[in-house]
Amino acid sequence: MKRTHTCGQLTLEDAGRGVILCGWVHARRDHGGLIFIDVRDREGITQIVFDPRANESLHAIAETLRNEFVIGVSGKVSKRPEGTENTRITTGAIEVLVESLEILNRSKPLPFEVNDDKDLSEELRLAYRFLDLRRTHMKNNIILRSRVMKVMRDFLDREGFIDIETPILTKSTPEGARDYLVPSRVNPGMFYALPQSPQLFKQMLMVAGFDKYYQIAKCFRDEDLRKDRQPEFTQLDIEMSFPDEETIYSLIERLLAEIFEKTMGKKLTVPCPRMPHAQAMRRYGSDKPDTRYGMELEDLRDLVGGSNFMVFKKVLENNGMVMGIKADGAGQLSLKQLEDLTQQAIGLGAKGLVWIKVSANEFQSPVKKHLGDELLRKLAEKFSAREGDLLLIVADAPATAMSVLGQLRVTLAEQFFSFKKGEFSFLWVTDFPLFHYNNEEKRWDSEHHPFTAPKAEDLPLLESGDLGKIRSCAYDLVVNGTELGSGSIRIHQPELQQKIFSILGMSDEEVKAKFGFLLEAFSYGAPPHGGIAPGLDRLLTLMTDSPSIRDVMAFPKNQKAQCLLTSAPSEVSSGQLRELHLTIKG
Ligand code: AMO
Ligand code: AMP
Repeated sequence: MKRTHTCGQLTLEDAGRGVILCGWVHARRDHGGLIFIDVRDREGITQIVFDPRANESLHAIAETLRNEFVIGVSGKVSKRPEGTENTRITTGAIEVLVESLEILNRSKPLPFEVNDDKDLSEELRLAYRFLDLRRTHMKNNIILRSRVMKVMRDFLDREGFIDIETPILTKSTPEGARDYLVPSRVNPGMFYALPQSPQLFKQMLMVAGFDKYYQIAKCFRDEDLRKDRQPEFTQLDIEMSFPDEETIYSLIERLLAEIFEKTMGKKLTVPCPRMPHAQAMRRYGSDKPDTRYGMELEDLRDLVGGSNFMVFKKVLENNGMVMGIKADGAGQLSLKQLEDLTQQAIGLGAKGLVWIKVSANEFQSPVKKHLGDELLRKLAEKFSAREGDLLLIVADAPATAMSVLGQLRVTLAEQFFSFKKGEFSFLWVTDFPLFHYNNEEKRWDSEHHPFTAPKAEDLPLLESGDLGKIRSCAYDLVVNGTELGSGSIRIHQPELQQKIFSILGMSDEEVKAKFGFLLEAFSYGAPPHGGIAPGLDRLLTLMTDSPSIRDVMAFPKNQKAQCLLTSAPSEVSSGQLRELHLTIKG
């Protein structure tokens, strides 16, 4: 049985034609002696009909067909009787009257039905991924992924980018996660690291003069998994020579616009807004603000400055901040829910949370007496609060006040707003700090990675020691509160790179061992360069509105970084360990 058509192809124009279809039994309906079967392949579904009056023995075989059997049929395309058409599918106007049937393979009883989109346990789905991928929405996600990659390649090719592969067996690239290590058999006691990103190689390629590079690159990071993280994921990795930040923003905006247009028929509004990091923190308490809604943080220092409420007073005396947000309509929250919010705030590092419910001429708050009616009225005015709204106030060191309210803002939005599907609010967050202080280890860390260039105008601060104030040429592309991609203009001068390494606490020997090749390369005419790496999996999660990043990957790992299909990771034989010069303790 060699198929003449796919199951998504035949229309009224084919009526009368003899055809052969191959596919899976998607569903079977028995009706007044007739057997109707939906045959499915990747392209769609076609209804086939077995009529006992036409062929009794064939009809008898059809009765033995079960869901997910693989069959081949030959027959005649026929217009469906009036009133039985299915307008939702391309093939809905016709059916195929079967003349011969071959069962190409059988299926065991299924662990779950493939022909609906019921919620199933993730464990079951991952263990039977080959069946899960037969389900319509998963199949569509994987096909969309392929189309998105095709648009990326076509676009970048047109823009003069070259696709270059970089090694998987390599040396550690610092992106802030743990490395996956691979022992070397021929170099006893030595290990490769799987790349956390192709960062250093793409910079080498700029030194090599390739000018515009891209790669749809696998990256590996041994970190705690969340719903938008996988240990093995894919980046659209990009690097260019001689760009400025705007060169990168515009490239990515045009690329995204083309992807959305060509794969979803959706117009993106570009250019996307840009917002310096300090402003994002100040207005939204987050470096990846969801800008689909307002609920911006307000600085209340001036208003509460004269208040006798000890909590505010003390914080202000210590150069702290008093900040607040208004949640529209959240005045309906119960005392229990407000206590939960307070506990969330405390869990996030706040010392407490002031809440104020606004009603017609009244306020409700545990600190109503301390604040007094006049201040309460002024606060309500400041927020233009109306009956039924809720005000939340945190007094603390500026960074804590902002980040706590930033996270409460997200919690409240999830509870009170329903977001329209397909609404995307893109934002470039720019001018990230170059360093942040690592309180546990008592040293400075790179905010992005050590290869990011400081802003030229902030270079003098490298000498004066006010490291926390130095801004960098790093940027994030943020969508609906998720970081979709990160990048920066890089350092290309060996002296400056050396200086940054030493600020990060690396000794000369350590620098030489880890990044000697980079400094060496920079000393042979390295061009100014920069780039970015949007996460492909995150982009698709967003485009498909999927609840998890795992829904857009064919074979993802579970929360414990296991592949339930193949049972990786697994033990290896003692012989393999011996060859690798490894012993397992305990
Ligand atoms: P960064 O580490 O910010 O930058 O990563 C860039 C993008 O990769 C995606 N991403 C992930 N996706 C799924 N699972 C993960 N565990 C995961 N980690 C990261 C995100 C993120 O925005 N070399 C730099 C880029 C550069 O400077 O050009 C880098 O890797 O979408
Ligand atoms: P206390 O005086 O600690 O009993 O706190 C009185 C009220 O103020 C409680 O509702 C606390 O949750 C709240 N509160 C305490 N500290 C802070 C703070 N730093 N910021 C905002 N609210 C606070």
